[in-house]
Amino acid sequence: MDVHSFSRPDQVRVRHLELEFDLRFDRKIVDGSVTLHFEATDQRDLVLDTRDLQIHAVENATGFELGARDPILGSPLKIGLEKGCSWVRVRYSTTPGASGLQWLDPPQTAGKRHPFLYSQSQAIHARSWIPLQDSPAVRVTFQGRVRTPAGLYAVMAAERAGEHFKMTRPVPPYLIALAAGDLEFRPLGERSGVFAEPSVIDAAAREFADTEKMIRAVEEMYGPYRWGRYDLLVLPPSFPFGGMENPCLTFATPTILAGDKSLVSLVAHELAHSWSGNLVTNATWSDFWLNEGFTVYLERRILEKVYGREREEMEAVLGRRELDQEMASLPESDRVLHIALAGRDPDDGCTLVPYEKGALLLRTIEHEVGRERFDQFLRSYFDHFAFQSITTEQFLDYLRRELPVTVPLDEWIFRPGVPAGAAEPHSDAFRRVEEAAARWQRGGAIDTGSWSTQLWLHFLRSLEAPDLGRLDREFHLSEAGNSEILHQWLLMAVRGGYEPAYPRMEQFLAAVGRRKFLKPLYTELMKTPEGQQRARRIYSAARAGYHPIAQATIDGIVGKPQ
Ligand code: BES
Ligand code: ZN
Repeated sequence: MDVHSFSRPDQVRVRHLELEFDLRFDRKIVDGSVTLHFEATDQRDLVLDTRDLQIHAVENATGFELGARDPILGSPLKIGLEKGCSWVRVRYSTTPGASGLQWLDPPQTAGKRHPFLYSQSQAIHARSWIPLQDSPAVRVTFQGRVRTPAGLYAVMAAERAGEHFKMTRPVPPYLIALAAGDLEFRPLGERSGVFAEPSVIDAAAREFADTEKMIRAVEEMYGPYRWGRYDLLVLPPSFPFGGMENPCLTFATPTILAGDKSLVSLVAHELAHSWSGNLVTNATWSDFWLNEGFTVYLERRILEKVYGREREEMEAVLGRRELDQEMASLPESDRVLHIALAGRDPDDGCTLVPYEKGALLLRTIEHEVGRERFDQFLRSYFDHFAFQSITTEQFLDYLRRELPVTVPLDEWIFRPGVPAGAAEPHSDAFRRVEEAAARWQRGGAIDTGSWSTQLWLHFLRSLEAPDLGRLDREFHLSEAGNSEILHQWLLMAVRGGYEPAYPRMEQFLAAVGRRKFLKPLYTELMKTPEGQQRARRIYSAARAGYHPIAQATIDGIVGKPQ
């Protein structure tokens, strides 16, 4: 049972969707219809998930009833079925506040001349723009048609032919995705390319030039890429995530366009989901670590193959440190891999624990059995469960059968924290940076000329109560163009009350809606009375530009502005 869906796929299981969308930018709504196909059934009703939808009519049904709205789950839509029924059609409209859509006005885009729309369905937001069985245990194929006003180009995460789209492989609903705007396309290779606004497309194509290499790297390890094309879509800066692994079309934040490929681990990550997540999917949101832990493990293996061991080690150490930091602020019950989510919003379970602790578990297993055997295991795991949604128990059964290990699996998965015996990552390059940090703190000079983004991040995080004025003077951090370095610096500036960096911080918070950046900055600001005032002022101006998901997060930190 999925506690985050009203649907009953055990009674009637929807297999295919026909989607029709008319994008009404003038009213910020989608006028839609969805035809849901299922095996002929004698069940009396079909229950769908919805949130804030206006249901106009249901065809081929005996009636329908929209239930009371639950603040987390939305409203069940109960549809009465004729005997032997195998399809129904729902005509509906979304509402402007739909949690899974963001409608951007022209000023919020790179080009400033056309509006933009994009969806973000994970975890349980597909129901805010399509009435369906919104559980990752339910997989559907679909076909879609999208009408847009002239001058705007629409894409779905599927095979494309003009305004028609089709997904012939069964996917969970959280992977259904749509975007429209002033988009241009640039090929990256035979089966890959990038969509972005015209003013961003060159930078995007340069940044993602290694995409084909990455695809080949995963294929060599874990078997063929099974989704046809792999394209990327660069979104406007309000996109609340780093990336989203929508099939055939990864959605990405523009904040990874650093100019030097230093932040493309995100591409490796979203691409890796084509195996872990999209091919083998978590059956419930409590099994989320099966998606993300496996993906971070694969991401690092891609980085190692494409950029070398040293890069992989640095990323692994950064992740390991962030995990410890985050765990310190979480209740014990959220430091486990299989987390209890009943009565909670699944977005609450999206901490670094499923990502980094999950990846560390797989790394620890790899260390015990050796890389060759572990890769063989993973390859057969992806084959065995291809196009299925599975639980943690199913993974454990399969692992115990195919690859018995002494790693204490139950402790890793069901108990808080990192067990003894974890395969801890190390980086010699970081050791040298730590020495440099110590020298610098004693007043010495250091040579940072050839430093990568990862070295900078580790350097900044290694400093203890540094002289922020000196840091800024020597390294011009307030002018950093790399979003990760800038974010790290701004966080330190707020912690140390370093006023000269505040204008840059305000500008950053106004321009960027990526939750990973917003959350720590607002949290840090809220720790002092002056910071609180500043946070409220910045947020009340910036909020309208953030995605509903980011708004909900920051409302919880700063409070909802009146
Ligand atoms: N699937 C996630 C994004 C997500 C998770 C959206 C949960 C909604 C609910 C995506 O693959 C992801 O993990 N993105 C990360 C980047 C990654 C490199 C760690 C992000 O957005 O920061
Ligand atoms: Zn992910």
